[in-house]
Amino acid sequence: MKEILHELEVRRERARMGGGAARIDAQHKRGKLTARERIEVFLDEGSFEEFDMFVEHRSTDFGMEKTKIAGDGVVTGWGTVNGRTVFVFAKDFTVFGGSLSETHAQKIMKVQDMALKNRAPIIGLYDAGGARIQEGVAALGGYAEVFQRNVLASGVIPQISVIMGPCAGGDVYSPAMTDLIFMVRDTSYMFVTGPDVVKTVTNETVTSEQLGGASVHTTKSSIADGAYDNDVDTLLQVRRLIDFLPQSNTSPVPEIECFQSVEEIDESLDTLIPANANKPYDIKELILKTVDEGDFFEIQESFAKNIVCGFGRIEGSTVGFVANQPMVLAGVLDSDASRKAARFVRFCDCFGIPVVTFVDVPGFLPGTAQEYGGLIKHGAKLLFAFAEATVPKVTLITRKAYGGAYDVMSSKHLRGDFNYAWPTAQIAVMGAKGAVEIIFRKDIADPEKIAAHTKMYEDRFLSPFVAAERGYIDEVIMPHSTRKRIARALRLLRNKDLENPWKKHDNIPL
Ligand code: HXC
Repeated sequence: MKEILHELEVRRERARMGGGAARIDAQHKRGKLTARERIEVFLDEGSFEEFDMFVEHRSTDFGMEKTKIAGDGVVTGWGTVNGRTVFVFAKDFTVFGGSLSETHAQKIMKVQDMALKNRAPIIGLYDAGGARIQEGVAALGGYAEVFQRNVLASGVIPQISVIMGPCAGGDVYSPAMTDLIFMVRDTSYMFVTGPDVVKTVTNETVTSEQLGGASVHTTKSSIADGAYDNDVDTLLQVRRLIDFLPQSNTSPVPEIECFQSVEEIDESLDTLIPANANKPYDIKELILKTVDEGDFFEIQESFAKNIVCGFGRIEGSTVGFVANQPMVLAGVLDSDASRKAARFVRFCDCFGIPVVTFVDVPGFLPGTAQEYGGLIKHGAKLLFAFAEATVPKVTLITRKAYGGAYDVMSSKHLRGDFNYAWPTAQIAVMGAKGAVEIIFRKDIADPEKIAAHTKMYEDRFLSPFVAAERGYIDEVIMPHSTRKRIARALRLLRNKDLENPWKKHDNIPL
């Protein structure tokens, strides 16, 4: 009996060594942790339960039968993050470069199926060289089965991908179908085809970092939702994110004890809006002063900075924030900002996370670059996302809400539940200058008349009251009571019951 128990320990120990001491050393020398070390950092201490530790590949081509390594390049299982169940898989670069074989894929599918059946988030940690070349089509089939599961789980359980090394070829599409992707700066990269193939096909010379490093995917392509300095920091940030997310689309958002009363007023907000309407201010100040304890998890912080998206809590419950940022391009909506916010709003709606929208938007960005780039369809994505969302929606117009962007930004007309405005709000088809130049074109040469028309337009339209008179704004509120008013609104909306008509699925303009 004792020998049998010992045999188990020996086998386990061998499996834990993955590709062996030399490859583990190489991993450390590159500043990376191993798959198992990552899982240890990510999960609550002692909570990890591993599946399929002894699974080996079944390939016999290219002499593969001589190199079988227990686990076959991916560590899978489940554990907890601050007490809540999550499923994980972590690619083990020390075993065949983390490449995906038929059995490796089956291990991932098993945790995908378990996560879906048990309605808990799944997190994939990537550090891999794509399809196991020796396995050919068996690996391709494996990938497609993983992709299929990603799609079925989409909108049911949160799926998060963390890129912690190479992520190439077939490995990129599973993350791309998950809800959120995070990367590690300088040690991770993602691309469909690597620098060598790029050189052959297009004759471009690029490094892996230039082609698909964290800086590319967080600022240019918007593939990644965030990047952090090293493995540990990245994993701890993903833990922080998980604390904001529900277990599934049928679970409530997590509730965390709130240590900041919502009754306190914040008088500094009364002077947040500059006297000159063309001067910027930082909308993040308003977000940080609205959420509990200033704790805000921003998504895509470095991309389309003219809109801010992220998670915070009010009275301990998760809320998604979408806010135009006057500090960048005056907070204008362009294609990138529209796509970024649309995806975020849809994520919140999938998972029952209420959306709070702060509006200070001068309109959609004019120009050929935007129109040729499909601004109409990209803008429509955000409009569609807000309009289809049935989660509680609270909107606050702080300053400008001009033109189509007024409609789009979770207006009353798109089933906004509480639509507030500060007294500084200006809700109009456009700003005074543009409006006067169009409707009083005949007086354009007379500065005195233009000034008089401008004053009249500003008095009549550049306030929240015309909209409030029509009930498009439920109430004009004092800036200092913003947190309290939003908290009260969200409290009321906890019982909100709204469903869209039955359909197979909608047809959002992609
Ligand atoms: C089998 C692989 C492998 C792979 C790496 N290895 N990738 N084994 N299949 N795809 C093995 C290496 O042979 C090596 O084994 C070990 O992993 C470490 O790899 P190195 O090349 O030494 O490491 P490094 O220099 O860090 O380079 C990492 C890498 C490179 C950039 C990922 O290995 C690479 O380019 N790999 C191939 C990438 C690729 O083309 N994959 C197929 C994509 S096609 P030893 O024993 O020497 O340590 C694809 C199609 C699927 O994925 C499409 C589905 C939609």
